[in-house]
Amino acid sequence: MTEFSFTLQARDGNARRGTISMPRGLIRTPAFMPVGTQATVKAMYPEQVRELGADIVLGNTYHLMLRPGAERVARLGGLHSFMRWPHPILTDSGGFQVMSLAQLTKLDEDGVTFKSHVDGSTHRLTPERSVEIQGLLGADITMQLDECLKLPADYSEVERAMELSLRWGERSKAAFGGEPGRALFGIVQGGDQPDLRLRSAEGLRRIGFHGYAVGGLAVGEPQAIMLEILQETVPALPDEAPRYLMGVGTPEDILLSIARGIDMFDCVMPTRAGRHGQAFTRYGRLNMRNAKHTEDLRPLDPSSDCPAARDYSRAYLHHLFRTQETLGAMLLTWSNLAYYQTLMKEARQAISEGRYTDYVAEVRENWERGEP
Ligand code: GUN
Repeated sequence: MTEFSFTLQARDGNARRGTISMPRGLIRTPAFMPVGTQATVKAMYPEQVRELGADIVLGNTYHLMLRPGAERVARLGGLHSFMRWPHPILTDSGGFQVMSLAQLTKLDEDGVTFKSHVDGSTHRLTPERSVEIQGLLGADITMQLDECLKLPADYSEVERAMELSLRWGERSKAAFGGEPGRALFGIVQGGDQPDLRLRSAEGLRRIGFHGYAVGGLAVGEPQAIMLEILQETVPALPDEAPRYLMGVGTPEDILLSIARGIDMFDCVMPTRAGRHGQAFTRYGRLNMRNAKHTEDLRPLDPSSDCPAARDYSRAYLHHLFRTQETLGAMLLTWSNLAYYQTLMKEARQAISEGRYTDYVAEVRENWERGEP
């Protein structure tokens, strides 16, 4: 098992169940990738992340090139051994984080220069350097450098960024070479413009990647626009390659995107919201800071397999958030990631059994109806 491969086991409408096979392990799709920006999924032990059923986590070029530095990670033995996650890792290319985090960014044809949000030092990313950094980290899946715009944006600006991203995709492919078992994904851009999305998808297909991401969504547009763009874009991507929707999303966004043919997701939502007191459960969302939980001895979800959701009272979780205790963030992160992975597992099962639409209807009904 030394090559990257993707096989489909089942289809239900446009939803797909499959397996990515890589030297470091299998990735069951639809897959949710917990975000481990700084070589850690915040507030979680790697063993716990694995135990919940995650096959792959995401790391970030932007953060790791600044601290501790890509060359240093390589000297220390690579990201997998550094963070003690021996399974697949996908790294984002840095373009998106530069735009959202760095100060004084200057973009040109060749790449992007920016000042670090940490210490103000100047850095440069080009498609070639991004691929090199991801190689130094030891990424199993490398993402091309791209330019992601916030929406709304003018057509001409969306077109310019999409075309630049295509040229950067071509350069990323040339820089990536043919390392066996490692994969390079292209990123579709084109904002909320269906014709630009199609041109982007066709351009990427011509270049040829192991997988295809849809970027530039969930950046300020309504959910209906995101779903419409997916509806238009996904059919233009190769059927035989995995499709990854970047930075999405809520449990509902994910289930509806699976129905439109997406195979992979990542999002800070379960981890970040968990650290801020927001719980995702089978019966919808709860804010544990809310006073209504003060004397509530019920757990978040007695039917969950996750101890954080099953064994701790809401009153205790509420107390931990009110007193800003670290354990509150740890428990809700654990519970939220467990919920996300449970959704993925149930979605895969439902696709195999040809009842994905019914499954999504059931899940949404539970969210809306609330607790029994
Ligand atoms: N994460 C969320 N959206 C994007 C995107 O459009 N590009 C990249 N590189 N990362 C993302």
